Amino acid sequence: MAEAEESFPTILVIFGATGDLARRKLIPALWQLYRNKQLPLLLQIVGYSRQNLSDEAWRVTVGEIVREKEGPPSPASWRASAGEAAAFAKLFVYQQGLFGDVSAYKKLAHRLGRQDNAWKTCANKLFYLAVPPQHYQTLFENLAESGLTEPCGPDEGWTRVIVEKPFGRDLTTAEALDSLLGKLFREEQIYRIDHYLGKDTVRNILAFRFSNAFLQPAWNNRSIEAIHVNFLEQAGVDGRGAFYDGIGALRDVGQNHMLQLLALFLMDTPQSFAADAIRQERARVLQGLTILDEQDVARQTVRGQYDGFRTTDGVAPDSATETFFNIQAYANLPAWHGVPITLAGGKGLAEPVAEIVVRFRHQTPCLCPPGVHYTNELRYRLQPDEGAFMSFWVKKPGAGMVIEQKDFAFDYRQAYDSNTFVDAYEKLLLDAILGDQTLFVSTDEIMASWRFIDPIIRAWQQGVVPLQVYKFGERPHFASLRGASRGSWPTKTVGFVGLGKMGSNMVARLLEHGWQVVAYDKTQNSKLKIQNLGATVVDTLAAVAQKLTAPRVIWLMVPHQAVDEVLNDLLPHLVPGDTVIDGGNSFYKDSVRRADELRRSGITFLDVGVSGGPSGARAGACLMVGG
Ligand code: BG6
Repeated sequence: MAEAEESFPTILVIFGATGDLARRKLIPALWQLYRNKQLPLLLQIVGYSRQNLSDEAWRVTVGEIVREKEGPPSPASWRASAGEAAAFAKLFVYQQGLFGDVSAYKKLAHRLGRQDNAWKTCANKLFYLAVPPQHYQTLFENLAESGLTEPCGPDEGWTRVIVEKPFGRDLTTAEALDSLLGKLFREEQIYRIDHYLGKDTVRNILAFRFSNAFLQPAWNNRSIEAIHVNFLEQAGVDGRGAFYDGIGALRDVGQNHMLQLLALFLMDTPQSFAADAIRQERARVLQGLTILDEQDVARQTVRGQYDGFRTTDGVAPDSATETFFNIQAYANLPAWHGVPITLAGGKGLAEPVAEIVVRFRHQTPCLCPPGVHYTNELRYRLQPDEGAFMSFWVKKPGAGMVIEQKDFAFDYRQAYDSNTFVDAYEKLLLDAILGDQTLFVSTDEIMASWRFIDPIIRAWQQGVVPLQVYKFGERPHFASLRGASRGSWPTKTVGFVGLGKMGSNMVARLLEHGWQVVAYDKTQNSKLKIQNLGATVVDTLAAVAQKLTAPRVIWLMVPHQAVDEVLNDLLPHLVPGDTVIDGGNSFYKDSVRRADELRRSGITFLDVGVSGGPSGARAGACLMVGG
């Protein structure tokens, strides 16, 4: 890691210095950087806040924060660090002021000018906005008004700004904020924090993906059948009721941490590992997410609120804010086309789990019992344990060939001394001083993530998806948290359209082999017969789609003249990732045309030749896939 010690004189101004973030994260991180000698040799840290404090009183507070972080000292260890702590506290000065009071900013500008004069230079200026987002606009305007954002000259001291999440509350507010920021700073001066990007385990995703050649060939929709991002917290909103009620789970962790994790997992190999190239690839993933319309939101999302949320301090008694969500998404990217992505996040849940689960496809042919869907799962974990765990199949020792599941496990915390892990805020502060934007979120990423999130929140606000209540500390009964429990992925379910002699015989055989079949025919053909055998028979094509969970597989066994009509009626009820198979006798050029048309909606179309006639269909037809 490059060290900042040699770097230019720097002034860090923390707006909201007496707040929770500064106390819990920023000052402890600065202390650690100071001890590691990673801060610029000439540094001043200016706390700006409403409280009336002298420099001395502020330094006492800083000393207390340091002592809290160090824990109860042994007399010897404290003596050793007390001198260092006192020298650290001396870096701090305090400027009292309201966020809306332009005269206080002028005093601040004056103070910074005095420091520049004392150092006989124009120092770098780093402004950290550790304030609730509703103050951003006032703060930016006053920074500009007081001349604080103007650099001294083209070759003298830089000016940078660090902005905490949430950046806006939707696309419109994010764009407004961005255009305001854009008037004061260029993109390379703006450091938007998503603290997840600063965590060692999250930074390791790049190494995991781009330093391990064995993963590369398998990293696409040919080998991977599903992805889950789980961000399940056990704690409730704990003292942040008013803030959380105003934003909800999806904005709190979905729009930022979870989408960033997804972007790191799905991004293409960047052209280089420079900040711009990495940020560009992350943005490309977010820009590729399929935007859900109201119908998709109704079908592909659930939301819930834990029992007791409404009686939390600061929460409205009739609050409709979600504390849990589960969204099935798709990415319209060549490598990920058709792979369902499940995003599940929230608070007050059974167990704390933050992870990305990548499920690989079933191997064909497979050395496993017939009809069993064997898959490998990679679980990349951030909580409760950190590391990567890969399930694989192994032959049980003994004369027989019994296959069972085991894990390759890599525990990040066990592999390294815990003192070597760097805190996210330490890393982010250091990078902002050094001017490395890799771990900060770009405008393109922010806008793309809001573009994906906004329609979901809008549809929820319109009541398209009911808000369901779940018990605090339990897994919501209504949520299919599929990624959280291994091996529960639904398999062997198919929609079947066309119950002529061939079709009904194929359905009978599928049922015999443990498949669940949702069947439709526009006549009464064989309906009763296959219903008695266990199929779910429905009256419309729409109902076929509704009875199946995406990603669906629907087999058409209709005369070739009827295929276009069936597709026209079925298509509005399908979602990207679904597959339609034409098992009839279609002319291959029609199949090519249909595959192209369906591909535009993210749906896979497959032509399968079926031979053997009705008796073959009953006994096991001969299939020519892609024929
Ligand atoms: C924050 C959210 O951004 O991230 C919190 O506002 C959430 O609600 C937190 O609990 C999780 O971060 P960490 O680092 O504690 O896992």
